[in-house]
Amino acid sequence: MSDSLFLDVCAGKKVPEKPVWLMRQAGRYLPEYRKIRERFSSFLDFVADSDAAAEVTLQPVERFHLDAAILFSDILVTLPPMGFQLSFESGKGPVIQNPVRNIQDLEQIKNPDLEKALSYTREAIQKTKKRLPGSVPLLGFAGGPLTVASYAIEGKSAPQLLETKKLLFTKPEIFDGFMQIITEFTGNYLLLQAEWGCDALVIMDSWAGHFGKETYRDFILPYTRQIADKIKSVTDMPIIHYANGASHLLSCVKSLSVNVIGLDWRTDISEAFEKYPQQIFQGNPDPSFLFAEPQTVRRQTEILLEKVQDRPHIFNLGHGVLPGTPVENVQVFIDTIRGKH
Ligand code: CP3
Repeated sequence: MSDSLFLDVCAGKKVPEKPVWLMRQAGRYLPEYRKIRERFSSFLDFVADSDAAAEVTLQPVERFHLDAAILFSDILVTLPPMGFQLSFESGKGPVIQNPVRNIQDLEQIKNPDLEKALSYTREAIQKTKKRLPGSVPLLGFAGGPLTVASYAIEGKSAPQLLETKKLLFTKPEIFDGFMQIITEFTGNYLLLQAEWGCDALVIMDSWAGHFGKETYRDFILPYTRQIADKIKSVTDMPIIHYANGASHLLSCVKSLSVNVIGLDWRTDISEAFEKYPQQIFQGNPDPSFLFAEPQTVRRQTEILLEKVQDRPHIFNLGHGVLPGTPVENVQVFIDTIRGKH
């Protein structure tokens, strides 16, 4: 046994108590986060400040005694070194001035030295690890290749993903060329995070669910598989794969060489366990349930506890914590999981 519930579950061991962490656990629902956020006019400057990044990585862990920390960064940080003009605009999210639409755009992409370009991430990991209790692993992460590519193709958050789909269906060689580039960088970036001191890695494919099963299986999954296989050829560090809106893709995701499958909130976790009883699942309540009355949060969490009893499972939400979530309800969720009332 290690002294980490999280790593023990990932290693397939039986644990006395289930671990819990939250996607987007550092963020705008926390007053201590907002206080540090105010010091930076730009989100990317905030991420690149390794002291601030380490501080907000630790904030939710210190407040809630979570079983894992996740590095404060963003899935889009690999894009600027590749030559993309990325900014985060308030109320709009990410904006990219020079999206990929044709072969010329593809040829403009730079081949950066990621180790140099993202040295602030190395510093943030090292500073975090110094202050993190030894029993709390640090999770590194990257976006799934489809999700990162889709931001670079759309140039913004685009709920229909139309430009991405148009590229896939009308210029498949450009889509493939771009996915290959992103896949290469994503794999390298995750391996760097492992080398720099992370204890487990998360692949977050937030837009995967926008594709039908066959399209996902044939045109998207192979790139994610390359990343997972590349990591596994170097290290046996646990990998969590999270795909959003992806209940229909579960059998595809199951075929990846990852340790844990993060379920989104639309998925019936009992059905998932019935289908794959040996699989370690993470999740998965709808993050908006944390806006309910505390007693409802407690009751819903107790129902979930019953469903996952005796199953290999890591508690989390079925997507990231939403801005405005009452902090006391996050506490109720965690306390209920730990049997504290
Ligand atoms: O989990 C954590 O607490 C670690 C930090 C983290 C952030 N983004 C910080 C962030 C993580 C793991 C992410 C992942 C991320 N980023 C995803 C995948 C997970 C998901 O939510 O689906 C995606 C799709 C992004 C891209 C992104 N970053 C968007 C669309 C936005 C704007 C909308 C939003 O959620 O705020 C961001 C900005 C961002 N990333 C913020 C934070 C804390 C908010 C920026 C701010 O404080 O001004």
